[in-house]
Amino acid sequence: MLPPTHKALVQEVYAEPLVVKEIATPQPDPGSVVIKIIAVPIISYAREVYNGNRKYSYPTPLVVGTSAIGRVAAVGVDTVKLKEGDLVYTDCVVRGRDDEEAIILTGLADGSTDGSRKLFAQAWKDSTCAEYARVPLENTFALDEARLCGSPDTGGLGYSREQLCWILQALVPYGGLRSIDLQAGETILIAPSTGGFGSAAVVVALAMGARVVAAGRNAEALAKTKALNDRVETVQITGDVEEEVAAIKKAARGNIDAFLDISPPEAQHSTHLKAGIMSLRQAGRVSLMGGLLEDVPFPHRFIMRRNITLKGQWMYSREEILAFLRLVTSGVLNFRDIVKVQGKFALEAWGKAFDVAWESGRLGELVVLTP
Ligand SMILES: NC(=O)c1ccc[n+]([C@@H]2O[C@H](COP(=O)([O-])OP(=O)(O)OC[C@H]3O[C@@H](n4cnc5c(N)ncnc54)[C@H](OP(=O)(O)O)[C@@H]3O)[C@@H](O)[C@H]2O)c1
Repeated sequence: MLPPTHKALVQEVYAEPLVVKEIATPQPDPGSVVIKIIAVPIISYAREVYNGNRKYSYPTPLVVGTSAIGRVAAVGVDTVKLKEGDLVYTDCVVRGRDDEEAIILTGLADGSTDGSRKLFAQAWKDSTCAEYARVPLENTFALDEARLCGSPDTGGLGYSREQLCWILQALVPYGGLRSIDLQAGETILIAPSTGGFGSAAVVVALAMGARVVAAGRNAEALAKTKALNDRVETVQITGDVEEEVAAIKKAARGNIDAFLDISPPEAQHSTHLKAGIMSLRQAGRVSLMGGLLEDVPFPHRFIMRRNITLKGQWMYSREEILAFLRLVTSGVLNFRDIVKVQGKFALEAWGKAFDVAWESGRLGELVVLTP
């Protein structure tokens, strides 16, 4: 039985502070399920999104949130497999069922088309930073709880439920790495590699069988990344393209096969983008996942002569979520000893959670809200 009301973290007015409110509990309708939220990951720059600095577009009032770990609390008439009590991962990338151009991130971004804005405002405005959330059925994936959270003594992988929130962190770069068809044995440059999504990219690329050249500015964070695996080499972003190209090629023992850029807006003028491209082999591939807000110049002649592919990528597909969950459930990608929950916060402590997330956001550092 769902309670008539529940607590939710709401932004009443765009860029204004959030408030915890008691709101009506949603009922599942066709195409949705209602889940009881266990934990929601807080991305390192959540503060910058909800204070308006990043200029993300969404309507208010809004129940904020993103992907989450929860338990199925009530199912709709067209739910055939999920059942009450199942542990699930629900994903924030919602697509228009009748419009492939309509893509939104629940609780975060209403996309860039009339259809996406309609989808957000009319169907999925209430996200997961709440005790209960109504989420799209096709976005909600049953997790093998005994395998993932069971004790290693009985064949489990020993994750805590909160740790599983890192799936969001890793799925983003997985989408980029899949989009350029990263192969086992290839060498990929990841830059910058010391932030939340960047460091997750290193872990994921290793699980996909690649050698990684991890670039960044922070020597201490790079040293921790290097310690992950002997297939990781690190390179300092120095601000000098030629110096960086030489260092990347030295670390890669030749040209790199592929390059994942996952820059934040602050890296708009960073040299690593050009250095990464100029280090590619013939027919090398680039995944552009960074959140740069302005145009960037490209070494056009180099790209043309070398048959380089530049591939933009926003998030990932449903099929990639399923493939990624197989990587985790099989144990091929094991992040249990890499990811540490830095802080678990109640909805009321959202401000503290955002601050800790902003100060964290390094390799394996995870901050969650536990409504
Ligand atoms: N395409 C997509 O689907 C998608 C999805 C999610 C996020 N994103 C984008 O990915 C970005 C990065 O995510 P994140 O979690 O790694 O961010 P983060 O935790 O904020 O980390 C920022 C990273 O950028 C580096 N950096 C900051 N300023 C720099 C500069 N001026 N020059 C070079 N490097 C700089 C930081 O390096 P230091 O360690 O040296 O500070 C750190 O590695 C986000 O800001 C977002 O825009 C894209």
